[in-house]
Amino acid sequence: MNKGKVDALLGIVFGDEGKGKVVDVFTPKYDIVARFAGGPNAGHTIIFEGKKFVLRSIPSGIFSPDKINIIGNGCVIAPDLFMAEAQELETAGYDLRSRLHISKRAHLILPTHRVLDRAYEAAKGKNKVGTTGKGIGPTYSEKASRTGLRVGDILENFDEKYQSLKARHEEILRHMGYTDYDISAEEQQWLRGVEYMRTFTLSDTEIEINRALAEGKSVLAEGAQGTMLDIDHGTYPYVSSSNTVCGGVCTGLGVSPQSIGEVFGIFKAYSTRVGAGPFPVELFDETGDRIREIGHEYGAVTGRNRRCGWVDLVALRYAIMINGVTQLVMMKSDVLDTFPVIRVCVAYEKDGVRTSDMPFDTASWQAVYEDLPGWQTDLTGLTSEDQFPKAFSDYVAYLEKALNTPITILSVGPDRAQTIMR
Ligand code: GDP
Ligand code: IMO
Ligand code: MG
Repeated sequence: MNKGKVDALLGIVFGDEGKGKVVDVFTPKYDIVARFAGGPNAGHTIIFEGKKFVLRSIPSGIFSPDKINIIGNGCVIAPDLFMAEAQELETAGYDLRSRLHISKRAHLILPTHRVLDRAYEAAKGKNKVGTTGKGIGPTYSEKASRTGLRVGDILENFDEKYQSLKARHEEILRHMGYTDYDISAEEQQWLRGVEYMRTFTLSDTEIEINRALAEGKSVLAEGAQGTMLDIDHGTYPYVSSSNTVCGGVCTGLGVSPQSIGEVFGIFKAYSTRVGAGPFPVELFDETGDRIREIGHEYGAVTGRNRRCGWVDLVALRYAIMINGVTQLVMMKSDVLDTFPVIRVCVAYEKDGVRTSDMPFDTASWQAVYEDLPGWQTDLTGLTSEDQFPKAFSDYVAYLEKALNTPITILSVGPDRAQTIMR
């Protein structure tokens, strides 16, 4: 933690690395936790004292009392889903009103954005992105087109603005021949969500954050998705629609590059991807199925099977470079506890040419592996580094050397308590 700085915790592969868990563990050290990109396409799981929560739009710092949580200007927010998520937390006894602030500049996801998401996917035929269907792409497109609605818009003449944008969406859908949808029930809930959002602090969060930094307070920026899903640096077009990388922290919260402190890059001891798109390390065999089963690799938002494979050093090196990662956080090592051999993708190969740099056209490259011995020991009860089996210490040291970055935090189970700081 750095006083007067924004530290970032960023997923550096294809998302679902365990960001929610680590943000929850880190929060006691910070004053403010802020989401800077994405929306309800995210599903961040937090487990402690036998309770489990999956957060979509609300920052994972919400479980620590007295901490301010911010949904920043770079985020997109669906009022109905936000209401459902917030009410679940309120029912569980968490006070949100005084601690959750939403940027007036964040963009609103309309029910018709979700229909457009489905319509664009249907129109893509076999080239579907495999989106979460939450309207993310259409909402960010609208933002870039300068026709979107923002949270601050709900404070004045909202009905008029809403009806006008909805009518435009309906016209686009008519032109696309996509008319078989009915949003009436969803729309009622959405409008209730808008009323509910009005009862929260809707503010100029960029000013709030910068004032806090000037007072020497510390901010943790909670990433969503991962670098390989970034609109610029991911496996385009099979990506999400925001900048998930460290640059997105500056634009998505309104903070300067000089205010960035530590950049924590979080990854799993293996790889997963949910949705379509290139994934050179994907395993189509029994080993992939075993990783999925042991790691419970099913989407937190959509329940889809996550595609599984070995760790990918090409992707990790690229992400460390793009984000300026200063420390690595390795998750879910325990999932590999029973494997006799652990493979590591060290390069990609095509037509006899090898590269360790992320290529433009990832889809046409094949993974090249090195094999390391498995530790074949249950890691889930370990509490400190000196208890590590040698083969596991060797795996960690191998990755640190190959990535030229220290792994300072290791997670050996889903619970808050199963976290080892080095
Ligand atoms: P996020 O989107 O990056 O916050 O990650 P998700 O919550 O989508 O996915 C991570 C999953 O792994 C969740 O189900 C977590 O409860 C679980 N998890 C996190 N850390 C560990 C770990 O070290 N070991 C195991 N076995 N599960 C973990
Ligand atoms: P967290 O924050 C994993 C994937 C979708 C799809 C692509 C585009 O939990 O790590 P979108 O709905 O964003 O237009 O979908 O991005 N995707 C994620 N995959 N974790 C996520 O979030 C994701 N958010 C989006 O599966 O391939
Ligand atoms: Mg997730």
